[in-house]
Amino acid sequence: GHLTPSDLRDILSFTTALARAAGELILEGSDAILASGTVDEKKNSVDLVTEYDVRVEELVKDTLGKSYPLFKFIGEESYAAGSRPALTDEPTFCVDPIDGTTNFVHGFPHVCISIGLIYQKVPVLGVVYNPFLDQLYTGVKGQGAYLIRKNGALRIQLPLAKPTHLASLSKGLLGIEWGSDRSGPIIEAKGESFKRLAGDPKAGVEKGQMAHSLRSLGSAALNFCMVAQGGLDLYWEIGCWPWDVCAGIVIAQEAGGFISGSKTSPLNNIASDDVLAGRKHIVVRAIGDSETEKGVDAQKRLIKEFYETVE
Ligand code: IPD
Ligand code: CA
Ligand code: CA
Ligand code: CA
Repeated sequence: GHLTPSDLRDILSFTTALARAAGELILEGSDAILASGTVDEKKNSVDLVTEYDVRVEELVKDTLGKSYPLFKFIGEESYAAGSRPALTDEPTFCVDPIDGTTNFVHGFPHVCISIGLIYQKVPVLGVVYNPFLDQLYTGVKGQGAYLIRKNGALRIQLPLAKPTHLASLSKGLLGIEWGSDRSGPIIEAKGESFKRLAGDPKAGVEKGQMAHSLRSLGSAALNFCMVAQGGLDLYWEIGCWPWDVCAGIVIAQEAGGFISGSKTSPLNNIASDDVLAGRKHIVVRAIGDSETEKGVDAQKRLIKEFYETVE
């Protein structure tokens, strides 16, 4: 059937409670994994997974399945286990049980459960919960974004006006990620871009053109939330999957942030892709005509343009 704004509010309450329950399991898992050191590798030695990634996904998938039997489900660990449903117009939950697994196994407290909902191929709801820092972010299409902590809920809304101190990206704090794809072309493109952003003159940067700094939070979802909160001016990454971005996209958009990617949508369920989120005037300037460009090419070009003053 048709999803109304009131349906979305009900789903938000349900998924918020579920995210908190999943957060409890993540906290329990953190103690267990830090004590045992039991970590497995997926495609290479930096692509990590634990039994808790799988257990949290099972909890979330089963709970959603009981209350929303007609909704489809996409999740990182189900996908890894061979369940790869195509993205349709049907309501589809899109879940990353532990976003920031590397942080999780190292005890670095930027870790979250990310629950998104896609409807007619568009992300419409997102709940991201970091149980270590007690930060719960929500976003519902057309209904705003919130940061909820023990001491209350705060609506998050980026100022509409372009902040004067952010006339160009060289005044910005930028979120970047190394990711787990360390194959030649990817790591070369990222290395080149990061050096340029950091102001390496050998990377063709003109004097004074360097970002205030670069940050790697280690969680795609939390990067979106930090853009929503205004702590990051831009987040970009090559190699995101739908479960990395679905919930975060809604939260950042509802806070007034702007999202882009290359021609292939980041919600394409076949391949990983690049994504860009941030203050609108920065992203719009940076993306140029990326609609017609693909992945790494678009990234390389937009990095070259990063330092030009944003009009
Ligand atoms: C990863 C994290 C990381 C990002 C990677 C993701 P995972 O997700 O979000 O920050 O750089 O692209 O795969 O594997 O921890 O769920
Ligand atoms: Ca993973
Ligand atoms: Ca992830
Ligand atoms: Ca994950």
